[in-house]
Amino acid sequence: MNLSFNYLYPSKDELIKIRKQIYHSEGSGFYIFKNFLPKNYVKHINKFWFDEAINDINIKKFKTKKEIFFGCPNYIYSSNTSNPNKNTIFYNFLWNNPSDQLTHDLSIQILILRNIIMSKSISNNFFEKSSQFQSTYRIVRTLNSENIVPFHKDWNSHPYIDPSALQATLFLSKNGKDYKGKGFSIENNKGKMQFFDTDLRNSIEEGDLMFWKYNNLHGISDKITSINSVGFTRMIFPVEILSKRGFIENIKKPLKLLYKKIIN
Ligand SMILES: [Fe+2]
Repeated sequence: MNLSFNYLYPSKDELIKIRKQIYHSEGSGFYIFKNFLPKNYVKHINKFWFDEAINDINIKKFKTKKEIFFGCPNYIYSSNTSNPNKNTIFYNFLWNNPSDQLTHDLSIQILILRNIIMSKSISNNFFEKSSQFQSTYRIVRTLNSENIVPFHKDWNSHPYIDPSALQATLFLSKNGKDYKGKGFSIENNKGKMQFFDTDLRNSIEEGDLMFWKYNNLHGISDKITSINSVGFTRMIFPVEILSKRGFIENIKKPLKLLYKKIIN
């Protein structure tokens, strides 16, 4: 599949405009690349993850953050096991073979673009075995839920301190068409809350890519109700702090105890 994105290397003038909107004290704290991803690709991603991968029994279930270590597999998380379609998250790591090449390539391009906007090296937080921080990508769907992400700030306390830190959200569905509710909201750099829920305010469509300031208060606090089977879908690109103890290290202690029990 041949992908092309207009914004992979923004011009100098474009970068100034983007950074000003995100970081300036008068700025909104976010910047949206409208129609970043063509609609047919959006459709492909929704179909692949929520029609096909969701039924793949080979994807490991995500239980705890401790499971995120260098070389760990990709995971699926469902918030409610009796109703696995309620909230679903696919955790993906750059070191694994991609489940879907389009989603993987797209993610790498978005991560590079984020690093450029943040004035970091292009491969910042990519595959650095010595680093605790690793860029990842998640595909998330919310069908019906309330206050799924209470308002909070990120990257403002140890070990995550970086006032320049940005998160990216690639919207894969549209408020008012696929789901109802306030959806994602974020404060601007003066502390005023901004919403994207109606056409009267900022409108977000599927395929829009938003970079937003992690230090600004943000969340998804309202009630989300799905209008169709797509619901509220999006991709986010967290930088995870890795567990120093990988799988082997995690099972060493219980195995030692078991061994002691057996020989005693
Ligand atoms: Fe957050």
